[in-house]
Amino acid sequence: MHPGLLYWEDRYLLGVSSIDEQHQRIFGLTHNLQVALYQGSSDSTLSILLKSLIIYTANHFAHEEALLSFYKFENSQEHLGDHLRFLQTAQQLLTQTGECKTSAVQMGEIIADWASAHILEFDQKIAAFLRGHGLR
Ligand SMILES: [Fe+2]
Ligand SMILES: [Fe+2]
Repeated sequence: MHPGLLYWEDRYLLGVSSIDEQHQRIFGLTHNLQVALYQGSSDSTLSILLKSLIIYTANHFAHEEALLSFYKFENSQEHLGDHLRFLQTAQQLLTQTGECKTSAVQMGEIIADWASAHILEFDQKIAAFLRGHGLR
């Protein structure tokens, strides 16, 4: 058992099922990436896992942003900014060709930080707002 492995915890549940399911999937993809890394998987395997994690996360952000715009959430700039920061960092990691191991390690760390900071701070707020609009 590696200490850095990311596991889902129910304290991240926000009460809006589509968002919660996507967050759980992001944790799962990150976990798979970390396991592949610790098992010494090839660069091409790591690269595929890394890309699918980034693509899935980008789609998740688009989902949240669509909900925010549909329900006219005010002051979403900071939230969107945090999404953008994540994607820019992820993109940077992807372009470090031939350094999949470094990228995968960093990606695991970024997601772990993002999970506590972004979900518990930003997503928490929008989930409360969306629940106020009857979303579950
Ligand atoms: Fe989220
Ligand atoms: Fe978010």
